[in-house]
Amino acid sequence: MFSGKRFSFDNIPDLSGKVAIVTGGNTGIGFVTARELARKNAHVFVASRSKDRGEPAVELIKKETKKDAVEFLQLDLQSLNSVKLAAETFLARNLPLHILVNNAGIMATAFEKTPDGIQDQFGVNHIGHFLFTLLLLPTIKASAPSRIVNVSSNGHHRAPPAGIEFEKLNDPNAHNSIQRYGQSKLANILFTIELNKRLSGTNVYCNSLHPGAIKTELTRGIVANWGSWTKPIISIIQLFLLTPDDGALTQLYCATSPEIEEKNFRGKYFVPFGEIEEPSAQGKDEELAKKLWDFSENLIKEKLGDDIFSKCYA
Ligand SMILES: NC(=O)c1ccc[n+]([C@@H]2O[C@H](COP(=O)([O-])OP(=O)(O)OC[C@H]3O[C@@H](n4cnc5c(N)ncnc54)[C@H](OP(=O)(O)O)[C@@H]3O)[C@@H](O)[C@H]2O)c1
Repeated sequence: MFSGKRFSFDNIPDLSGKVAIVTGGNTGIGFVTARELARKNAHVFVASRSKDRGEPAVELIKKETKKDAVEFLQLDLQSLNSVKLAAETFLARNLPLHILVNNAGIMATAFEKTPDGIQDQFGVNHIGHFLFTLLLLPTIKASAPSRIVNVSSNGHHRAPPAGIEFEKLNDPNAHNSIQRYGQSKLANILFTIELNKRLSGTNVYCNSLHPGAIKTELTRGIVANWGSWTKPIISIIQLFLLTPDDGALTQLYCATSPEIEEKNFRGKYFVPFGEIEEPSAQGKDEELAKKLWDFSENLIKEKLGDDIFSKCYA
């Protein structure tokens, strides 16, 4: 790590007694986030879609940090039932939850629908995290002071003209793959705004962020969608990108820095390395945020039943 950043791993406070979940904690900046939380004594759950990639990551974190309180939690954000089961599995442990980092994501994939019939980037990046967060919310509230960190992207500036074009979400011809990514990442910011409003009066601090442009596996969606000719171009671009260690700093800042509580940072959008920035005009649209919340709730109720959120607002 080079100097000049306003936040570094050394600034993470001791997290003894804290419990954290990091979605997509098996690779990329999610892995680094889980590893550094564990290094500072948090009990960390690596929430990951496959055992094959999740369990080795857990073992590696244990080895690198010499900490044992690291566990795998099976979570496939593509499947609402898997999200529900993951939340239930965690809740059955009767642990507190102080830090939820909604980090997992896919980018620029070819148009596909999830098994629940939801466009994949919107489904994985937004809807899955929306459900996961709400199912965990009573525990997060009961564990306050606590944090919810939604990993967005400056790619949210690429969302289509209306921001979230609800009626076109499942139209394969309405948007290109980058617009679909932008739309899902805008949804992360809008979810943060509305959730933060609903958390008013609590000690739950919910923020979103752009982590920087980082050399990770995120570009695999582009290669699979556009073809292997993109590989050498991506390799050259990646020479100029942040390392995953530096890319994880902004979400680690949101998840752990005492400044978040001292300065009462809520509903903010952060950029490297823990600076506040204004998102796009759409990313500040409170009406759109409310509309997205209602749309997401209704969509999930349609798939999982009307009582799915019955315990979430306790
Ligand atoms: N890299 C960048 O330059 C950049 C820039 C802006 C924002 N971001 C955001 O940063 C976050 C982390 O990305 P990254 O760069 O670290 O990418 P990455 O290396 O590709 O990691 C993405 C993680 O998400 C997981 N994931 C994907 N689909 C999932 C699903 N259906 N259920 C559960 N987990 C799933 C992946 O699991 P598997 O390993 O099993 O596939 C992996 O753990 C994303 O939200 C991304 O949008 C990244």
